[in-house]
Amino acid sequence: MKGIILAGGSGSRLYPVTKVYSKQLTLIYDKPLIYYPLSMLMLGGIKDILIISNKETIPLYKQLFNSGAHLGLNIEYAVQDAPNGIAEAFIIGEKFINGESVSLILGDNIFYGNLEFFYKALRNNVDATIFGYQVNDPERYGVIEFDESGIALSIEEKPSKPKSNYAVPGIYIYNNDVVNISKNLKPSARGELEITDVNREYLKQGKLKVEKIGRGIAWLDTGTPEALLQAANFFGVIEQRQGLKVGCVEEIAYRMKFISKEKFEKLINSIPKSSYRSYLERVMVDF
Ligand code: G1P
Repeated sequence: MKGIILAGGSGSRLYPVTKVYSKQLTLIYDKPLIYYPLSMLMLGGIKDILIISNKETIPLYKQLFNSGAHLGLNIEYAVQDAPNGIAEAFIIGEKFINGESVSLILGDNIFYGNLEFFYKALRNNVDATIFGYQVNDPERYGVIEFDESGIALSIEEKPSKPKSNYAVPGIYIYNNDVVNISKNLKPSARGELEITDVNREYLKQGKLKVEKIGRGIAWLDTGTPEALLQAANFFGVIEQRQGLKVGCVEEIAYRMKFISKEKFEKLINSIPKSSYRSYLERVMVDF
């Protein structure tokens, strides 16, 4: 299973910071936003990861993660020239995906809680698995309509009259058909290759599994300054209360045994003296 993080988008709602760097590098409490989706893929056991972003930002991600070897990962990079839609990631990433299945996560989507729904879907996916999450404002998202038995009937992108409160979060799992399906899409009215159209195609073929994500899981929005502040506060509260970090990719690499104790120690020694480093030193002693 390959992993893709799509960290694109113009980020116009977060101007002026997005004039100089991408939203996915914004600080969420104590680490860049992209650490959270990256940690989700890592916890799912995915080690081959492609980061897609615009050409200005790719050098910054390379500075942040390099080849990923220090985390026991193989991280590759690719440019999306313009915000042409989520589904374009599978065309850009075709060579990287290399005939395998792939899980794509949007670089600004954060999940918190028991992520078993995702791990299970990674294990059991046959064709395509997406998720449904109940929200207050479904019209901002892809929306799924279910029948009484919970079978998905339709999916619409940002409908003005949503048929349910179930939004599709930005985490998707597909078999390799996704590459050809994406290549055959026509751009939508907003000029994008829509992920919703990919999902519709799987649905039409009777190959789309939609898993509802239950209560107790937080799917946080990061689209606006208010949402970013809320997310930072949310993780600040949890981390201070427990003394455990969320989305700490260095810790996850060690706990998942992607890297040995020796490599972890070397990694820690490369980090400047900071509370982040002290935390990792504690992890090494405790684990
Ligand atoms: C995109 C997708 C939408 C999905 C959302 C999740 O929306 O098009 O179906 O529900 O991500 O974050 P966009 O970010 O393009 O508004």
